[in-house]
Amino acid sequence: MSEHAAPESAQPPWTAPTGVLQVVDLQAAEHHWEISPGVVVHGYAFNGQAPGPVIEASVGDTLLVRFTNLLPEPTTIHWHGLRVPAAMDGSELAGDPVPPGGHFQYRFDLPDAGTFWYHSHLNETVQLERGLYGAIVVRNPDDPPVDGERVLLFDDLKMNRRGQIAAPTPLLENMRGREGDVLLINGVREPTMQIPAGQIERWRLINTASARHLRLSLSGHRFHVIGTDGGLIPAPYAVDEVLMAPGDRFDLAVGPFTDGETVVLQALPYDRGAGRPRHRTLATLHVAPEDRASTTAGVDLGRFSRAILPLVEPGEAPTRTIRLGGRLTRRGVEGTVNDTPHFEDAPVHVGRLQVWDIVNETTMDHPFHLHGFFFQILSINGEPPPYPSWEDTVNVPARGRVRIAWLPDNRPGRWMYHCHILEHHAVGMMAHFDVVA
Ligand code: C2O
Ligand code: CU
Repeated sequence: MSEHAAPESAQPPWTAPTGVLQVVDLQAAEHHWEISPGVVVHGYAFNGQAPGPVIEASVGDTLLVRFTNLLPEPTTIHWHGLRVPAAMDGSELAGDPVPPGGHFQYRFDLPDAGTFWYHSHLNETVQLERGLYGAIVVRNPDDPPVDGERVLLFDDLKMNRRGQIAAPTPLLENMRGREGDVLLINGVREPTMQIPAGQIERWRLINTASARHLRLSLSGHRFHVIGTDGGLIPAPYAVDEVLMAPGDRFDLAVGPFTDGETVVLQALPYDRGAGRPRHRTLATLHVAPEDRASTTAGVDLGRFSRAILPLVEPGEAPTRTIRLGGRLTRRGVEGTVNDTPHFEDAPVHVGRLQVWDIVNETTMDHPFHLHGFFFQILSINGEPPPYPSWEDTVNVPARGRVRIAWLPDNRPGRWMYHCHILEHHAVGMMAHFDVVA
């Protein structure tokens, strides 16, 4: 269990600031959310839209978010996946929540290109369900051109008989996580999309659902993973499905398709140890005639590449074990880390390599999310992952074990990790710890 020092180079490179300041105004308020024509649910939104506006910037820019809370309850914004200073992290550890009528300015640099998201980090089980989330796209101007790009946020809603967002049922939802039967893409139920024949698009996917794993397929078509939580992987990786746990992101290269074809975005049945795996339709993609004017000559997938050097030798021993558990007490369902709800984990030191074994002692999958830092997956149930990547969220299978490695860089402060099934996080499957200089 010895930790050794690791060089700063053993982490994703930190892009130098461009000096460009991106200013974004965000207002959270109650919202009439039209999930399909004429079907309106009472929700929450940023800037009158659910999901909130896509925040776009180039890598190296500085983001200034001027936030106003017009909700009837306090809230905060967490920047999921961004390497921000601890004080900007938007968790309850980072400072006081923003009260109703209050303001806060979040300001930080964007050292990484990739697909990230922002979401409420207070009363999350209610506030995210109501729509308080949005995408962040940080572009690298060196990325190769594609014919088009889509940002796709997946969600599900649990409705009551009156067609409104159902009240929580704590015992069941805290146990299994809250899943809803209404599947949404970008806040809309089963949308229809179009793509011209012969084109290759970059899709930025984010699973914002409270508890639903998404096993995505495109009518059996092959597509390529080009990036994950922390940006590009070394080379495109061909698949015919991806599994996205809550909190996860994937960047995909999709297409080309043939004129007249219909491609269905499907959620294939996935057994996470809770709920009822079923085959579901998410969206329909109609392939339109070729459109030469909008087609880039020769999208070169091979140019989506980035070196990712291994943080540790394959056989490296873990420096810490984190056991995820749950139990039923007289007070209700509790989530635990090392048998303790809301665990206080030992501090980590800047520059000291961390190798963590995350052991799932339950019969249900748990997506493990580390705030503020990227890790590499060394193994899942003893098997190395199919490609190296930088991640902030990894699915820990039921009764399974995941080993990760990461390096605390020089951002001391209070940080946390938790299960991204929001109900599990809320009932205690989380830990805080200090990063100390
Ligand atoms: Cu997206 Cu603390 O989480
Ligand atoms: Cu969980």
